[in-house]
Amino acid sequence: MFERVSAAPADPILGLNEAFASDPRTDKVNLGVGVFMNDDGVTPILATVKEAEDRLLKGETTKSYLAISGDPEYDAQVQGLLFGKDSEIIANNRARTAQTPGGTGALRIAADFMRRELGVERIHVSDPTWANHGNIFKSAGLEVVSYRYYDSDTMGLDFDGMLEHLENVPESEAVLFHGCCHNPTGIDPTFNQWQQLADLAKRRNFVVLFDFAYQGFARGMDEDAAGLRAFAEQVPELLIANSFSKNFGLYNERVGAMTLVASDRHTADNAFSQVKTIIRGNYSNPPAHGAKIVATILTDDALRAAWIQEVADMRDHIQVLRDQMVQKLADRNAKRDFGFISHQNGMFSFTGLTPDQVKKLKEDYGIYMVGSGRINVAGMSKKNIDAVCDAIAAVV
Ligand code: LMR
Repeated sequence: MFERVSAAPADPILGLNEAFASDPRTDKVNLGVGVFMNDDGVTPILATVKEAEDRLLKGETTKSYLAISGDPEYDAQVQGLLFGKDSEIIANNRARTAQTPGGTGALRIAADFMRRELGVERIHVSDPTWANHGNIFKSAGLEVVSYRYYDSDTMGLDFDGMLEHLENVPESEAVLFHGCCHNPTGIDPTFNQWQQLADLAKRRNFVVLFDFAYQGFARGMDEDAAGLRAFAEQVPELLIANSFSKNFGLYNERVGAMTLVASDRHTADNAFSQVKTIIRGNYSNPPAHGAKIVATILTDDALRAAWIQEVADMRDHIQVLRDQMVQKLADRNAKRDFGFISHQNGMFSFTGLTPDQVKKLKEDYGIYMVGSGRINVAGMSKKNIDAVCDAIAAVV
């Protein structure tokens, strides 16, 4: 029977890792998948993570199951990071959080919840969006449509186009927002624009889902949550999928959470009981290790402060690379102005390179990036940035 199954295309992001691994060139550069790398081209384990792991190894007494919704301490800490610890949502006990396997697990649980419990049939996502969003939402039975987002003329946000589309989204449908560091463009709404979007969402009353995978990578922990918190002030019900892959460097531990905000605690309990049945029917309950690391760091004042600094260091490193890239491309008289790269947020830059140019960079120079022209800025280092800029200047 299996012979009836046709082969799937390679994943547009993770598939690049396989192609990269089998490329024999020694000077190849991987700017595909979004992982932070230091100047030695290594994705390091954060010092705070190592310290937390040491403590866990010494103190752990059981490997028994976690609850369906995961570690309660972790779940509480997630809410503190999302809403701020003095948030009215926390004071009034209106949020429920389930620890999930990564942000992807959280998105899938949110999608299943919207489809099964809210009867949502369609979700609106930005054009462009993370290549896996469509895959996740379609797997949950949702139809995926795009709202205008990126303006290729200005290399900025098409805010009017976005508003125009979202004004017509009916109550029965859902809208996905990227909390910060929009993937793939690196372009986020301003605070004022977030407030307008929150007003619109309140008025239109559609289902709101935030994907929040890069908290701390644009400006800071609280600063990057400003858009989400603007929504939290206006909109009584929210779904949030967050990830600690990037800001704790816990990529392969799969650490994320799905948070549901309801208008009151009773509604939150009822709705969350259904979230738990979805999780139970999917992966039963989440793995412990990564979440225990996060909870250990966030509940210890010194470790927490050290972690905030580690995130700031990663953020600053990426900004330095952005500025260097802009300068180096200008020095090479690249036929385009790449100044916009300095102003984009997070790990990614949407370079505006065409599919042909992306192909040429891979084939002729061994430089791998996502077909849309997205590069992982953090994939560059002082060792390869000159070669990358030489190649880009040559192909544009
Ligand atoms: C990315 O966009 O590169 C990351 O979120 C990794 C992934 O799973 O695609």
